[in-house]
Amino acid sequence: MREYAIATIPADGIGPEVIAAGTRVLAAIEKREGGIKFNIENFDWGSDYYKKHGIMMPTDGLKQLKKFDAIYFGAVGSPDVPDHITLWGLRLPICQGFDQYANVRPTKILPGITPPLRNCGPGDLDWVIVRENSEGEYSGHGGRAHRGLPEEVGTEVAIFTRVGVTRIMRYAFKLAQSRPRKFLTVVTKSNAQRHGMVMWDEIAAEVAEEFPDVTWDKMLVDAMTVRMTLNPRSLDTIVATNLHADILSDLAGALAGSLGVAPTANIDPERRFPSMFEPIHGSAFDITGKGIANPVATFWTAAQMLDHLGETDASARLMQAVERVTGAGILTPDVGGTANTKEVTDAVVDAIYASNV
Ligand code: IPM
Ligand code: MG
Repeated sequence: MREYAIATIPADGIGPEVIAAGTRVLAAIEKREGGIKFNIENFDWGSDYYKKHGIMMPTDGLKQLKKFDAIYFGAVGSPDVPDHITLWGLRLPICQGFDQYANVRPTKILPGITPPLRNCGPGDLDWVIVRENSEGEYSGHGGRAHRGLPEEVGTEVAIFTRVGVTRIMRYAFKLAQSRPRKFLTVVTKSNAQRHGMVMWDEIAAEVAEEFPDVTWDKMLVDAMTVRMTLNPRSLDTIVATNLHADILSDLAGALAGSLGVAPTANIDPERRFPSMFEPIHGSAFDITGKGIANPVATFWTAAQMLDHLGETDASARLMQAVERVTGAGILTPDVGGTANTKEVTDAVVDAIYASNV
């Protein structure tokens, strides 16, 4: 029996609804697959915990999580707690504390989903965005001075290190190499940002030498939005800084039909720490508690988790089940359907049992 310790942190908004759905699907995988066992432990950290304790997670939170094989995360954010507190209190300390420096965001138009772009259909927009996840614009460096006075200043310093840039480039080139097209687009803004971004470009060119079989090109981030929209088939694997990839991955999610289907994996490629898997969508207060959250992103990220754990067959079975269900038109309202979270989850569970991969 291959056993995996999974920490679930549903946290805020629709997080608990989608993680509950994801947990049901993992249980179905466990039963259908045989030979796998998920030992799941739930953590009630997040904004409610903050309102009771003044912190988003206990001070020894990372110590508690370290022994797990993976973390399955819902969403953070609450209307009555400032976003920078919820984010810097839970998700970012986990990503940065566990050095999950590669944030991997696949996109694909799933069957049954009508994308906003003309002439795009199922299987198109088969991209993977690799987001640098440990530094750059999210380093947390900067400060405020002279608060409230006319001369007040605020700085937000983007930090790029040779170690940080080299390792994310290597990760991205390796990932590109593993995909059929072996093609990587390096996103930059080195025309306007003439220090860190120029170093980013130089390191990309250096790392490219290690991967002679990978073709690569370079795009300025603003022009990249145009290319993603007007020439989407010209892209495959994409690497960008923390902030650039944050923005581009929202665009990718929208072009693929909905953020409700977009997954993300926060990976420590060296496996010193647990990696963390989550849907990209946030806590979505507008639909919280209505039972209509799209669980597909949470299922897709569970497939990423299974891949990371080496359970590639189970991962393929799960994605096949998800695609059968979307293809059958069992969709939540954000992707044009009328099904609720439970109906989509029931259908995916059934498809897992019925699958024959
Ligand atoms: C994401 C989100 C987060 C980010 C928010 C919630 C701070 O937009 O995962 O893309 O910017 O990293
Ligand atoms: Mg984002």
